Amino acid sequence: MFKLTPYLKKYKKECIIGPVFKFMEAILELLLPTIMAMIINNGVARRDTGYVLRLGGLMVVLALFGYGCSVVCQYSAARASQGFGTDLRNAFFDRVLSFSYLQLDRFGASTLTNRITNDINQLQQLVAMMIRLLIRWPFICIGSIVMSFMMDAQVALIMLVFTPVLAVIIYLVSKTAAPLYRSYQKKLDGLVSTLREHLSGIRVIRAFSKEKQETGRFSRANDSLTDDGLAIGRISSLYNPLTSLVVNAMIVVILWVGDIHIRAGRLGEGQIIAFIQYANQILTSLLFMSNLVILITKSMASAERINEVMDTVPDMLSPSAPASQSMFAPAIEFRDVSFGYSKTGELALENINITINKGETVGIIGGTGSGKSTFVNLIARFYDATSGSVLVNGVPVSQYPITQLRKQIAVVPQRALLFTGTVAENIRWGNTDASIADVKKAASIAQADEFIEHLPGQYGFNVERGGANLSGGQRQRLAIARAVAAGPEILILDDASSALDFLTDANLRRAVRENSRGKTVLFVSQRVGTVKNADRIIVFEDGRIAGTGTHAELFGSCGTYREICLSQLSDEEARR
Ligand SMILES: Nc1ncnc2c1ncn2[C@@H]1O[C@H](COP(=O)(O)OP(=O)(O)OP(=O)(O)O)[C@@H](O)[C@H]1O
Ligand SMILES: [Mg+2]
Repeated sequence: MFKLTPYLKKYKKECIIGPVFKFMEAILELLLPTIMAMIINNGVARRDTGYVLRLGGLMVVLALFGYGCSVVCQYSAARASQGFGTDLRNAFFDRVLSFSYLQLDRFGASTLTNRITNDINQLQQLVAMMIRLLIRWPFICIGSIVMSFMMDAQVALIMLVFTPVLAVIIYLVSKTAAPLYRSYQKKLDGLVSTLREHLSGIRVIRAFSKEKQETGRFSRANDSLTDDGLAIGRISSLYNPLTSLVVNAMIVVILWVGDIHIRAGRLGEGQIIAFIQYANQILTSLLFMSNLVILITKSMASAERINEVMDTVPDMLSPSAPASQSMFAPAIEFRDVSFGYSKTGELALENINITINKGETVGIIGGTGSGKSTFVNLIARFYDATSGSVLVNGVPVSQYPITQLRKQIAVVPQRALLFTGTVAENIRWGNTDASIADVKKAASIAQADEFIEHLPGQYGFNVERGGANLSGGQRQRLAIARAVAAGPEILILDDASSALDFLTDANLRRAVRENSRGKTVLFVSQRVGTVKNADRIIVFEDGRIAGTGTHAELFGSCGTYREICLSQLSDEEARR
């Protein structure tokens, strides 16, 4: 948890001022019962109204002053904790952005979302509470005992005996609760991830009438969370009555011993009332301290979860010096590349050797799961090859600063993702300098200009989150326009036109080819029609290259390719 204290550095002032003012308030609070005892013993007993009014006035002044102190402290605590939370959230977000795909896959989006919201909130609350409570309540607890000793050692001894009993109860409770909090957070992650899956898949769930099963799955995750919450509740519910019992026992003993002292004339009634007030203050302080202990325990679980992310070193290092590329090297080269998504699992790509020259238009085809997307992801270095090397312009991709590499390569992923904003903003996303003419040009290459003209507001049309207010094909075309507008040297369309009709798909391919002279273009598809006219076709099968060549060459020599062709085209079309 202490690892996170650097985020408090900027708020050092608040972290000092807050507790100091709270401390002053606590001193005043400790004085009140003693003044009360003096009023009762000296004022009320002797019917001295002047004395009562004078000391009563003093109490009011002290209380007002204490209130002022409390306000200052509260304000400092709010400033420090809010600032701390904001800074930590920013740092957390930056760290997550630096993760490789593999690391993001490993954490998963729901736990990261939970950590940046729930867990950081928890820590933020802790900072506020520490400033407000950490010094105040131990001081009041010890101070109450000391003040009691100053009044009468024998009665005070009673408090000294009972206080450790209370402390032990508090310790035991927090110790049993700690693992439960950890498990609770983990289950919350599970619940959120189930919920995410449900919300994004709600159409499919309805289409297959699976509501019942899915509701069951959600309830199970929910119930399991509730169980942990209840267990925590049960422990806490034991605990309040238990502490009250001990404190009330203490008060009974104080009254009993006090009575003996009063009869003997050694103590006044005022002191007994003061003792009881101090006893209550001890209870309150222990209660607050125990809440603080619970909060600390909870926060420790949260801090662990935050640190786990903050301590994860991005495994994809990006050198800062720009790579010096060779003009004459091939655009893309795979040298004996193998790749598996997990260290132990199956390989998604195996011993890939291929060279793609500058200016070439290459079609990539293969059955689903054959490794096409994986191949493409390695070029843009979304993942690092497990063995072998991937070169772009003669330089291994790992030697490029990531930004330099990604500037040269634009990938349109299989699932087009758009952002909230206007159509123009979405197209400009990869190249903020693009003029409106550039945007329109990119849209026309992507065959998107026509439908955009028909949208209300045209290029100013507001795209909703994820492109929810556009059709699948419209989304794909906008994503292609975005990649084209970025003006990359290597343009990769990963099954990016799958939702387009054949004619639009053909127009798109023609426009892309005409407008990317000297550039390298990769069309990934399961459709023969999409790759047929490429300069060269690469056929993938089970993570290996089954053949490369033109359509005619492959149709003659590659069994896999011929099979794909004949399954989609008529015999005559395939031979053309
Ligand atoms: N993020 C991932 N984590 C783990 N395994 C993955 C991941 N992505 C793909 N795979 C696995 O890698 C293999 C190759 O997948 P890939 O996405 O490259 O296929 P593809 O040829 O693009 O298929 P499609 O035509 O359906 O898009 C598959 O067996 C798949 O299960
Ligand atoms: Mg794919």
